[in-house]
Amino acid sequence: MKYNSPISGKRSKILIKRDKNVMFSANTRSNELPLTVKNAKGCKIYDLDGNEYIDFGAGYAVCATGHCHEEVIKAAYEQLQKLIHISGSDFYYESQITLAERLFNVTPGKFNKRVYFGNSGAESLEAAFKISRYYTRRPRVISFIGSFHGRTFVGMSLTGSKMVQKSHFSPLIPEVIHTLYPYCYRCPLNLTYPECIRDEFEGIPLISCVNYLLDTVFEQLCDPLDVASIFVEPVQGEGGYIVPPKEFLPLLAAIARKWGIILIVDEIQSGLGRTGRWFASDHFGVEPDIICIAKALASGLPISATVGRAEFMDNSVDDRAWIKGSHGSTFGGNPVSCAVGIKTIELLETKLIKNSEEVGNLMKERLQDMQKRHKIIGDVRGLGLMLGVEFVKDRETKEMLPLDLDGHGKDIKQIIMGSCFQKGLIVLGCGRNSIRFSPPLIITKEEALKGLQIFEEVIKEIETALGF
Ligand SMILES: Cc1ncc(COP(=O)(O)O)c(C=O)c1O
Repeated sequence: MKYNSPISGKRSKILIKRDKNVMFSANTRSNELPLTVKNAKGCKIYDLDGNEYIDFGAGYAVCATGHCHEEVIKAAYEQLQKLIHISGSDFYYESQITLAERLFNVTPGKFNKRVYFGNSGAESLEAAFKISRYYTRRPRVISFIGSFHGRTFVGMSLTGSKMVQKSHFSPLIPEVIHTLYPYCYRCPLNLTYPECIRDEFEGIPLISCVNYLLDTVFEQLCDPLDVASIFVEPVQGEGGYIVPPKEFLPLLAAIARKWGIILIVDEIQSGLGRTGRWFASDHFGVEPDIICIAKALASGLPISATVGRAEFMDNSVDDRAWIKGSHGSTFGGNPVSCAVGIKTIELLETKLIKNSEEVGNLMKERLQDMQKRHKIIGDVRGLGLMLGVEFVKDRETKEMLPLDLDGHGKDIKQIIMGSCFQKGLIVLGCGRNSIRFSPPLIITKEEALKGLQIFEEVIKEIETALGF
């Protein structure tokens, strides 16, 4: 098909050229999204050449309160005048403690909790990984195919998404075993849900993917009593915005209980209102032992939180008591990030989670209508404002579109991202052939529908070019 990559305006071109001369080329810069940002407000981004874009990406699901929310700026400014840094691992200040208390109120589970504050999603997983090994004194860890957990060695070792994220970095951390995630649209066992349920485990209908963990992994590869933790995304993000069936998380929780394994839920992308509830785990009625939180927590300022049962993280437990200094961070729990985190939670609580559910439902309905009109839309899925659309060549066979659609190596994701960009809409790809919608949670119905209108225009053009 004929497709021309976006051409940047004059000022953007100059900036991009300067960027090329200084930035690490492993960054995921894309020719299809040559977005330079002068400023951003609410759900709108403005580039250096005066173009305006509707933002359906929120900086990878970070800017939940929208760009530069007035109350966020005020909270940051007030804290900036009092204290910018002192090191949260070593000293005491109020914003860190208050944020912890607020997080304990909104994370699933009424049990006693403790928190470790870091600076990024990957750091939150590093902490969870260390806690689970330290507390259980067990070596092995279960993770899932299709998962994404970040770029550090723990993150990479847990990740099972794209080879580019792991190639040439081995040896990775040993003892991580990847098992099947219920990607029901393309079942890894070629079965269909719910017919794949043939048994039950601890009274819960046993879907076949989890049966594979019990029947194959735990029988032939790994003794469950050697397993410290199970790391899982309750909705897979980078892997394709995949929502598992309702039995999946409760089954993992039951497995963890049975063998004394720690269930660690990575809610870095799905947490804090993104799915229309505080956490995606809430949709499944599961109270994880440890929950990893980052992205939206401080509306764009860096911070992450690893919230876990007090028994794993306190210093009062028998011979596994934590030795001071065995974990920590200079910047973790930065006072300004914490102050903004408190404000972010307040904004989510008062309005934004409800908006995420309402606008998310509306967008999903509209996307499902679009699916009826456009054959290349194979699947529409998601919860709240965490929505994904998967593209296919053939809806019946689910055959994927070729990776080289334009004769220059562009796949469907890149072509959609680039075409939307040229019409003033920012969307991001995920999985092998999906587009994700993760706008700021403040998005209005009008903005959402305007963005979807642009998206549909692009789909129409692509279908025409492909001869559908
Ligand atoms: C589910 C999930 N876990 C972990 C990470 C890593 O977070 P960070 O890039 O802040 O280290 C991401 C980032 O996209 C993510 O989506």
